[in-house]
Amino acid sequence: MPPRSATARRYLMCPPEHFRVTYSINPWMDPAKPVDLKLAVAQWEDLRDRYRSFGHTVEELEPRPGLPDMVFTANGATVVDGRVLGARFAHAERTAEAAVHAEWFRAHGYRDVREPEHINEGEGDFAVTSSWLLAGRGFRSSPLSHAEVQEYFGRPVIGLDLVDPRYYHLDTALCVLDADGDEIMYYPGAFSPGSRAVLERLFPDALIAAEADAVALGLNAVSDGLHVLLPQAAVGLFEPLRERGYEPVGLDLSELLKSGGSVKCCTQELR
Ligand code: ARG
Repeated sequence: MPPRSATARRYLMCPPEHFRVTYSINPWMDPAKPVDLKLAVAQWEDLRDRYRSFGHTVEELEPRPGLPDMVFTANGATVVDGRVLGARFAHAERTAEAAVHAEWFRAHGYRDVREPEHINEGEGDFAVTSSWLLAGRGFRSSPLSHAEVQEYFGRPVIGLDLVDPRYYHLDTALCVLDADGDEIMYYPGAFSPGSRAVLERLFPDALIAAEADAVALGLNAVSDGLHVLLPQAAVGLFEPLRERGYEPVGLDLSELLKSGGSVKCCTQELR
């Protein structure tokens, strides 16, 4: 078993004070289903406090009324080597979030903040491994954003086609476990046959998730190199993660799941 160790991370999160499901832009969202806001806040605080207990820094973005999906900070930007590529949302309901993120970065000393030309939903569709920038397309981020992100960060982009509307962002179907060692876990059913073949070629040792764990949004996880925070309902992933030397940490984010998001969606990594 390879020895695992956590490295200190910085995350950007946004309290779900104004979280609601008032529109539907993915198959998980049903505005008729009630959301327990108090529970959502408690679940979110549990995630934030868990990060802090592992020694990570959590920065908080101030939530805005009328932007119910702002809690999903992963979508607001992509940060690599301290450089920021802003987001441009696919749906009008979330458009205004992009400027709030860009403003936060400028106010916090980031000098390289680029407004994107093409539609991209940040870390929802971009995942950073040591060798590549994996990029999802098919539902949200435009294929044109892949060239843009490659040019901006100077990292080779691997474009991946998402084909199942339940897995509308890359981070709902794939998670980077070890960013230094190119180790990932993913659910093959979310990808086109060609993209599955690409993933098999690049990541022959990947942890392959079963459908039951994918549908619990078990791939919407965050790893610090040792701890893997993931939805607790993804029970099938815990043992395979332990076998690889990771410490899975299960969390209940039932209320945010009603919007199609979980651990990773609520977490933007400030690299
Ligand atoms: N309701 C949000 C949307 O559909 C959920 C976003 C989840 N974020 C993510 N990184 N997958 O846009």
